[in-house]
Amino acid sequence: MNDIARAGSLAPELNTHQDLEAFWMPFTANRQFKDRPRMLARAEGMHYYTPEGHQILDGTAGLWCVNAGHCRKPIVDAISQAAATLDYAPSFNMGHPMAFDLASRLVELAGDPFNHVFFCNSGSEAVDSALKIALSYHRLRGEGQRTRFIGRERGYHGVGFGGISVGGIPGNRKMFSAMLPGVDHMPHTWNLKEAAFSRGQPSWGEHLADELERIITLHDASTIAAVIVEPVAGSAGVLVPPKGYLEKLRAITEKHGILLIFDEVITGFGRLGKPFGWQYFGVAPDLYTVAKGVNSGAAPMGAVFARKGIYETFMQGPQAAIEFAHGYTYSAHPISCAAALATLDVYRDEGLLTRAAELAQHWEDALHSLKGVRNVIDIRNIGLMGAVELASRDGAPGMRAYEAHCKAFFDEGLLVRYTGDIIAMSPPLIISTNQIDEIVARLRRVLEKID
Ligand SMILES: Cc1ncc(COP(=O)(O)O)c(C=O)c1O
Repeated sequence: MNDIARAGSLAPELNTHQDLEAFWMPFTANRQFKDRPRMLARAEGMHYYTPEGHQILDGTAGLWCVNAGHCRKPIVDAISQAAATLDYAPSFNMGHPMAFDLASRLVELAGDPFNHVFFCNSGSEAVDSALKIALSYHRLRGEGQRTRFIGRERGYHGVGFGGISVGGIPGNRKMFSAMLPGVDHMPHTWNLKEAAFSRGQPSWGEHLADELERIITLHDASTIAAVIVEPVAGSAGVLVPPKGYLEKLRAITEKHGILLIFDEVITGFGRLGKPFGWQYFGVAPDLYTVAKGVNSGAAPMGAVFARKGIYETFMQGPQAAIEFAHGYTYSAHPISCAAALATLDVYRDEGLLTRAAELAQHWEDALHSLKGVRNVIDIRNIGLMGAVELASRDGAPGMRAYEAHCKAFFDEGLLVRYTGDIIAMSPPLIISTNQIDEIVARLRRVLEKID
């Protein structure tokens, strides 16, 4: 147990021999996990603590979401006050002040050209909401034949039927044959031969955006409602867009009257050193989704931002008619709104939405120092996101990264994510340079021990 600090008496009394059977765990190899549970009991700042009190350095901000760090007091206080004051309020034909305040704050943070926000409870719901907004928008403008969507291979847009249809991760699609009809996919942008060990955006690959023109020609532009991409593909292993690629997608979609949707569930809220990824890349989409960092993961929440003109297109017909027949019981839930308002204050007061820009060079240099460590075939980074790709073992894809993940957790007290044979990292934005070095030192020790 190298380097695992013991929090001893700080650890809550938990029954570590509890029965794990009944919980059908999401996106988990249940039997493998239950054989070797990796349990978290509490969290604070940059760390988790196991039920036994071992301290775990959080290299992934939970699941790409705890951008302000764990259990921040202003956020905790806001949640407990909301829970005691207004536990729940419907948002259908009713409202509560925090929802309106939050929407105004978010629109202000986004700035031009975005002027409205639609609330939901997760990234998956945000994606489905954005797809439905796109379809309705075209129909309201007399272009109801625009029903197709174009996503991208290796894209992750959550797990709703809309999200898996436009998403491009085969394992998330293969069991669910009935998906949205009329969806096509662009190629993903990663190429080990051409772009391995690129620092930031690769110089190779802008031409891949031309594939969009080919797909548009095939289906005819007049049938396509929207193109959806993550500005940086996160869940597929931090695939950084080539230089000029997003700009080209924007130009092509604009030319053909097709909406461009950015899925910013990971890149939103400071991950790249600007409040939103589109601001970092200087490419404004028509709609963009957020979730996770909106309240630093403290309560379920998602949202869709709409460019000027989209909401206004819906505001027609009789005054008493519902303009968009869509929404969730928990849209703009008071507890989630309170958490988000407090989180935005923390982000503002501590400069966290631009902190990744200050740390990005240190992060990049630290991660790329792993070049040459055995089995490492690629390292990718942008803002405070990073990935180390390992060669797969013959006949056992994913096992090397899984072992690295377990060793990191148990031997080094480090939380990293793994997807296939890729180790992905996205630490809380409060991380120090020493902690960045610590993540990389621990990961190096792990990788050196794994064959
Ligand atoms: C880009 C992107 N979109 C959508 C989602 C789905 O979010 P949720 O798990 O909150 O439904 C995720 C989750 O990681 C994501 O990374």
